[in-house]
Amino acid sequence: MGVSTPRTMSALCKLELSQFRNIEHSNLELAPFLNLIHGENGSGKTSLLEAIHVLATGKSFRSSLVDPLIREGATEAVIFAENTEHASFGLKKPRNQKHQLKLSGTAQTNWDEVARAIPTQILDSSSFQLLEGGPKARRRFLDWGVFHVEPLFVESWRRSRKALANRNRLLKTQPLDESQLEPWNQELASSAEKMHISRKSYMENLIPVFQDVHGQLSGQSLTNLAIEYRRGWDGDKGLAEALTANLAQDVKYGSSQLGPHRADIEMRVGKRKAIELLSRGQQKLLVCALKIAQGKLLSQAIGRQCLYLVDDLPAELDRENRERVLTQLLNLKTQLFVTCVDLSALDFIHLEGPELATFHVERGIIRD
Ligand SMILES: Nc1ncnc2c1ncn2[C@@H]1O[C@H](COP(=O)(O)OP(=O)(O)O)[C@@H](O)[C@H]1O
Ligand SMILES: [Mg+2]
Repeated sequence: MGVSTPRTMSALCKLELSQFRNIEHSNLELAPFLNLIHGENGSGKTSLLEAIHVLATGKSFRSSLVDPLIREGATEAVIFAENTEHASFGLKKPRNQKHQLKLSGTAQTNWDEVARAIPTQILDSSSFQLLEGGPKARRRFLDWGVFHVEPLFVESWRRSRKALANRNRLLKTQPLDESQLEPWNQELASSAEKMHISRKSYMENLIPVFQDVHGQLSGQSLTNLAIEYRRGWDGDKGLAEALTANLAQDVKYGSSQLGPHRADIEMRVGKRKAIELLSRGQQKLLVCALKIAQGKLLSQAIGRQCLYLVDDLPAELDRENRERVLTQLLNLKTQLFVTCVDLSALDFIHLEGPELATFHVERGIIRD
């Protein structure tokens, strides 16, 4: 974890969209603090958040396909933004062709630099499935945090992906040549041990921040609420040894059953799994606490703020709980993008002046 440095408030100040979803063209001056986006269902609010997410991470939070992001009938979508540190971010996605990503004019081969410059969290209906869904979403949650505080993590992550792909390919070939497998076992094990150390240390730092945020959000401290990180292979053995011991299983399934791609976070209350015990509302607050804790930890660890995209909170939380969640988010003093159908659902927010920008969206047209 990095040494604490002074916080930089790096907010997006300009956002320009062309042919993205139902937004033909839009040029927005953003507020550094709170951006409220309201409009009827189907007007384009989520699309606006999605555009920021795609620019910052390379991925949408609601579609794995890129082509549907391009406005029907258009040949390419363009997203451009500037931040208060005078960096610019540009993404062009032509239909059926590779994207072009630029950071302050320089072409990027991957999202590493851009993602580090615009750490972005999303809180929407699918985020609330963090606990009940499969481990993939929890690994993504975990790795989001590690990526931002451990600059070398992504290297180990990529090495492990490559080793896994090669190992899985060999596991499917017959007859199996174990000697060919060995170098990939070593490579997978060495990258996995590094990932494990980073993930474990991240979780150790996150848990107390989470406990604190969760206590404030829920108004009660679930003292027996425990978060446990699992590395993806059992026992006190190293992964290389575990892979050898588990070879018969791997051959049977034709893929690696143990490794960092099987890591998970388990949440328990006492002896039981949190999802079995907590109400839907309690689970949602827990997810909010996890995400808010990540933002807090990020600014403590590397002195950067992350921006939050908060989609349609009124559809997910009752008035009291959304007030609590938004109060916590506002206390982070970071940049927020908050959507709702009807502004009256958020009328407990008392902000004015340059800290706040309100946008109304109607059939893809965004006005302030
Ligand atoms: N590629 C596209 N081209 C044109 N319209 C689209 C495209 N993808 C989605 N839409 C439309 O954009 C509209 C806005 O969707 P969305 O951003 O989810 O609205 P909101 O969040 O305000 O309810 C929807 O009516 C949807 O049908
Ligand atoms: Mg929406």
